[in-house]
Amino acid sequence: MKFTAVTIFPEYFAPLNLSLIGKAIEREALSFETIDLREFATGNHRSVDDSPYGGGAGMVMSPEPWGAAIDNVLANNGGEIDLIFPTPAGKVFNQRIAESLSNSNHLVFACGRYEGIDARVVEFYRTNPRIRLHEISIGDYVINGGEGATLVMIEAIARLIPGVIGNPESLLEESHNEIGELEYPVYTKPATWRGLPVPEVLLSGNHGAIENWRKEAARKRKEGQDRRE
Ligand code: 6GU
Repeated sequence: MKFTAVTIFPEYFAPLNLSLIGKAIEREALSFETIDLREFATGNHRSVDDSPYGGGAGMVMSPEPWGAAIDNVLANNGGEIDLIFPTPAGKVFNQRIAESLSNSNHLVFACGRYEGIDARVVEFYRTNPRIRLHEISIGDYVINGGEGATLVMIEAIARLIPGVIGNPESLLEESHNEIGELEYPVYTKPATWRGLPVPEVLLSGNHGAIENWRKEAARKRKEGQDRRE
C-alpha cells in the first residue's frame, strides 16, 4: 500500500515516522510520500490561493496547482488510485470506511487549506476512470486544514494493513469492531493501586467467567456512551 499526501505543509506528516507506522514504513509494509503543492504553483509568488468569486471571507485554493499536482500523481503511478478530499462537508469517516480503504493499492490525500479547494477540481476528477474519488470528514467540527484529518485517517487505515500490526488478533477484539462493541476495560499490575483493586474475576484464571465479565463490562460501557450523547 502506498500513501501520498498532497499538501502545502509536508512537515506536518513527520509524526508518521514514529511508532508502529514508522516501523511499517521501514520494513516496507507500506510507503508514504508527500507532494508539495507549491511546487506545482506558477508565477513569481508561487501562490496557491485567491479570493472567492461571489465574495465572502477567506481564500480559496486555486484549481491550477491542484490539477497539475494530481495529473503528476497519475502520470507517475500506474493503475487506479483512491483520491481522498478531506472536507468537513464529506461523508463522516468510520471504521467501515477505514476497512474499505485499507484494501486500496494507493491512497492519495488532497489536503486543502483555507476555505477549501475550488469545487471544479473534484468535479473534474470524479469522472476519471483511474480514480475512485472520496470526500470525507473526520467528524462534525471544523479544523484548519486537511492535514490533521489525513493523519487521523492514515492511522486508522494503516493499522488494518496486513503486517503493520504485530499481533493481528488485537484487531479482532478492539473497540468499533464489526459488531460495534466498545472494548472492555483493561488492567495490569499492581493488583491494587491507590486502594483500587483489579476486578477479582480477572485474577481467577476462569476463562469462561472472564469472557462473560468482559462482555458485560463492554455492554455497560456502551450503555454509558449512549447516555452521554
Ligand atoms: Cl476532513 N477537514 C477540515 N478542515 N475540517 C474538518 C474535517 C476535515 N473533518 C471534520 N472537520
